[in-house]
This record gives sequence, structure tokens and C-alpha cells, in this order.
Amino acid sequence: MNIIEIINQKREKRELSKEQIEYAIKEYTNGVIKDYQMSALLMAICINGMTDPEVLTLTDAMYRSGETLDLSSIHGIKVDKHSTGGVGDKTTLVLAPLVASLGINVAKMSGRGLGHTGGTIDKLESIPGFQTTMSLENFTKQVNKIHFALVGQMGNLVPADKKIYALRDVTGTVESIPLIASSIMSKKLASSAECMVIDIKIGEGALIKTIEDARTLAHFMIKIGNQYNRKVVCVLTSMHEPLGTHIGNALEVKESIEFLKGNYQKDLYELVLTLGSIMVHLASSISEKEARKKLEENIHNQKGYQKLVEFVTSQGGNLEQLEIAPKVFSVKSTQTGYIQKIHTQKLGEIVRMIGAGRYQKEDTIDYGVGIILTKKVGDFVLENEELLKIYVNQKDMEIGHILECFEIGTHFVEKAPLIYEIIR
Ligand code: URA
Repeated sequence: MNIIEIINQKREKRELSKEQIEYAIKEYTNGVIKDYQMSALLMAICINGMTDPEVLTLTDAMYRSGETLDLSSIHGIKVDKHSTGGVGDKTTLVLAPLVASLGINVAKMSGRGLGHTGGTIDKLESIPGFQTTMSLENFTKQVNKIHFALVGQMGNLVPADKKIYALRDVTGTVESIPLIASSIMSKKLASSAECMVIDIKIGEGALIKTIEDARTLAHFMIKIGNQYNRKVVCVLTSMHEPLGTHIGNALEVKESIEFLKGNYQKDLYELVLTLGSIMVHLASSISEKEARKKLEENIHNQKGYQKLVEFVTSQGGNLEQLEIAPKVFSVKSTQTGYIQKIHTQKLGEIVRMIGAGRYQKEDTIDYGVGIILTKKVGDFVLENEELLKIYVNQKDMEIGHILECFEIGTHFVEKAPLIYEIIR
């Protein structure tokens, strides 16, 4: 078998065989196939797509590229959640401890930032001392004790995705339905949760831009889940503007803490309760309506917040020491009117550029930088009134291109609905 033939075949839009896909994944994981060759194959997949059998084989080959987690020593059902990624998407940081505060097991493996979108592991690593790796024994012990543990790609779990994910981040091959489906589902299968909720984000700030593409992705993920006897529910949600108000690693942790103390933004609250009630329902015998009530109670009595602190402390972190970048610039509107649109991907790119994300695999992250939005879509703003604050470590800041992220006009616009569809 030869990787050049495989690349050529995909470039010419011809379906790859099971053997070819398995060979490409195995030999890339082993280091025989080089980064530049895999980048070419990923780009050909991005441009020409994959058939259902190709996606199933790709996911299976990635899932089998390393070990799988034996979580059988965890008592009870485990539920997982994953997002396809967005700007300001700190949902996991709020949702996972909240669900765990009801005694539901959340045993979760998360990823780093991808393209202009942030990643849960980078966000958690902004908490001084927080450990995103641990032994399987400690992981299962922690879930049995406090119902929640979250790690990065542990040990030799799905090493193919670990390598491909990092490569996609810096080669313009992030936005691809087959690559997203196989990346997410190979990790979900290997981490052994019986049921999972996938938040498929749609819009300018997301990897998926249209509802049709989101439905195709949901179709792949549910099909893969069924094949391995896992319950998968896909929730299609809006990413036409950032979620909540904070964007950037430590800032998103800060907003999550505030949320669980009861100071929440409406959009994030609605998303957390929708995803959370499905997760609780899948893992227990209670209805989604009842689950929603219990989750709301645990926001208001701060049991969710206590669970977040317990989880962070168990993994060595200290929330008190969270650091935000010291230089703050206020970005003011140059006109009066309603915010019609926020160019969310562009805003995500700016946050990446000031240090919150990577351009090369080896780049280190500046955890404290980011943005806090003062205004969102539908809000009225006066000329010279603040649109956002930007937190950086540098002395000067060119703000012209930040203003280009906002479209302001004279008529009021309704926000796009937050939840589009739930596909079960
Ligand atoms: N999350 C993942 O784990 N992989 C993707 O490709 C996109 C989002």
C-alpha cells in the first residue's frame, strides 16, 4: 500500500477502501506516514468529502488506534457531552459539574482549541495547578467519589485523533464533516460512555455553517453511535454570536464560575439546561422536565458551583489564583444604533491572534488574554459607548479590525433562535 496513491485517489474523488483508510491511520499513528502527507490527505477529504462507509471505517480505525478506557469499575451509567466548537463556548465548564451535582457520572475526555474555536482543556489549564492528565485508576476513583472527572487525551487513547487534531488546527483542515464526525466519535467510543449529547454548533462562529451540514453531521454521529450500541442525541444550536460574554481561556473559566454562582447570561443558561436535561434523562429514569427543575435548583442553591470547586481541587487546581491579562482596552462604538450582527469567526480569530490560540502545533497559549462583550446582537449602542473590553499583555492594541466585527444599523433585529433542532 502507498500513501501517495491514497492521496491521489481521494483527490480524484474516488472512494477509499477499508484497507486504505486503515493503512493511512495506522501508519500515520506509527510515524511512517509524515505530517505533510497526512495534511495532503486531510485537505483532499476536506474538499471532496467521504461516503458513509468511509466515515464509519475512518472512525473505527481511529478508535482502534490506541487503547480504550475500561471504565467498568465506575458504578452506574456514564454520560458524556461534546461540542463541535464555537466562540466563547464554555458550556462544558458549567454543564458537567452541574449534571454531576445530581449524582450523574460524567467521565469526560476533552480537546484543545481548534482553529478559531477554543477548547475545554486549554481553558482548564488556565487554572493554576490544574492537571489535565491522570492515571486511569485515579480517573475512575474520582468519578466514583465525586461523579466527575475530565482529562485531555489520556495515555494512549485515540492517538490517531491526537495527531490529526493538532495537524488540522494548523493546516486549514478543520471545517470538514467527515473529519469532525470521526474525531469526535472515535474519542467518545474510546472513552466508553453509554450515552452522549452532542452540541452541533451552526453559524458564522462555528465549524458548521448551515443547518443542512449540521443534519448531515448528526446523521453520521448517530449512525456511528448506533453501530456501537451508544445512545447519541444531537442538539443543533446557534453560533451566530459568541455564547455568553467572555471569550478567552481564563476569562471563560471566570464566566463559568459566575454562572454557577447564579450570575448567568440568558443564552448560556438556556443551552446548559437544554443539554443538561437530556443528559440527566439519558442516564437516569427521570423525565427531561423533572431533570430541568433539578438542574435549576442546583444552580440556585450553588450545589453546581460546589461541584465545580470540588472537581477543580481534586485535579490540583486553584480557582482563587486564576489570572486575567493586566492591560485592558475599552473598544467603543463609532456610531449609534442596534447591533445587527457580530462577525463571530473574525472575533474568534482576533482572540486567537492576541495569544489565546495556536498557529503552530508547538505554540504556547497566553491564558489570561481575551474579550468581554458589553453588547450583543439586538442591543442598542450609542456612539462612543463601549462594545467590549479586550484583555491583553501587550502595551498597544490596534482596534480598527475589532470594530469591523460589529454591524450596527438603525433597525432592531431579533436574535437567531438558540436551539434549532434536537435529533435523537
Ligand atoms: N471537536 C473535536 O473533538 N473534533 C473536531 O473535529 C471538532 C470538534
